Amino acid sequence: MSLKKRYLMTPGPTPVPSEVLLKTAEPIIHHRTPEFEAAIKSAEKNLKYVFETTGDVLLFASSGTGAMEGAIVNCFCAGDTVIVTRNGKFGDRQKLICQTYGLNVIDLEYEWYERVSVDDVARELEAHPECRGVIVTQSETSSGVLNPVREIADLLRDRPDTIIIVDSITGIGAVECKTDEWGLDVVMTGSQKGLMLPPGLSAVAVSEKAWRAVERSTIPKFYFDWKKHRKALKESMTPYTPAVTLVLGLNVALDLMREEGIENVIARHALLAEATRSGVEALGLKLFAPPEGRGSAVTPVWSPEGIPSGQIVKIMKNDYGVTITNGQDFYKDKIFRIGHLGYFGEFDIITTLAALEMALVRLGYDFEQGAGVRAAEQVFIERGNK
Ligand SMILES: Cc1ncc(COP(=O)(O)O)c(C=O)c1O
Repeated sequence: MSLKKRYLMTPGPTPVPSEVLLKTAEPIIHHRTPEFEAAIKSAEKNLKYVFETTGDVLLFASSGTGAMEGAIVNCFCAGDTVIVTRNGKFGDRQKLICQTYGLNVIDLEYEWYERVSVDDVARELEAHPECRGVIVTQSETSSGVLNPVREIADLLRDRPDTIIIVDSITGIGAVECKTDEWGLDVVMTGSQKGLMLPPGLSAVAVSEKAWRAVERSTIPKFYFDWKKHRKALKESMTPYTPAVTLVLGLNVALDLMREEGIENVIARHALLAEATRSGVEALGLKLFAPPEGRGSAVTPVWSPEGIPSGQIVKIMKNDYGVTITNGQDFYKDKIFRIGHLGYFGEFDIITTLAALEMALVRLGYDFEQGAGVRAAEQVFIERGNK
């Protein structure tokens, strides 16, 4: 135990509000009871609100990767052709999952600091009329890039046999994701992100078009068989033992989101992201994601020349109690990432920028001390609550 105050500024897991923590500390209840059925009913209703859909939203006791795998095994057959777009670690994972199940992957690979191109997807769809799915990571956590899922979904409106699968694991609750209006077929998230819960739950929205794909799928599946989950959900149940505690906490978190209003939740994230970007740029640092594709969940930043980002991350965590994350894979020690997805407010950003400045001073980086904090404050003064 230590009294050092800690700040979790990562893009998952994210901080959990105390109302949610208190709920999850209550004694466990049995899942085959009217109380739990009411909890499932309420979670279903509020998840539909957050996903902006009237379709089914299924809940699984799994991390986000389980939802990704579930989408592939339910929607396709071995040998099906799919387009996988990837500009980061999670797009790479989508490709691996598709290959694991014997899909024929058309690989649209980009640099991590680039956005997926709608024109490229259109060209591949034209060249492959047999294509059954397009898989897109909406908010790429490894790079902070926001991909154009709405525009890609538009390409599929007249293709009844081709669905769009959207990994919105760091999108839901941070950026706009209008499942029905945009025509998204499968949209997934994980509990440890914008839903402000501990890790361990995933949620997947499934459109009618996606259910038709499910009907023809022959890939073997058991736990992640969506049809079993849909059948149970109709009776406000889950087919297997659910993550009872997390579902109860989810209802509290969803109530908080509903109270704030989904548009306001998204606007708050946009403001936090803008303040973070202004703050780091005022320190003379360069943003990683391209200007046309910056999401509001996480801000990746190039580390200054000669300073491995791991050193910044280490000083901030060990000496100032602020946990941010290093880059992943090739970008390890080249970039650092500040998460602001979920239960965050102005002073989380101010605190983080202050800790970043203190770490940079100690690492010998030359800049105007205080400039980052001042720039972020200015964004909040000018654009935030007056
Ligand atoms: C965009 C994205 N997709 C997929 C995943 C995988 O989710 P999990 O780690 O919960 O399995 C993550 C987790 O960080 C993510 O950020």
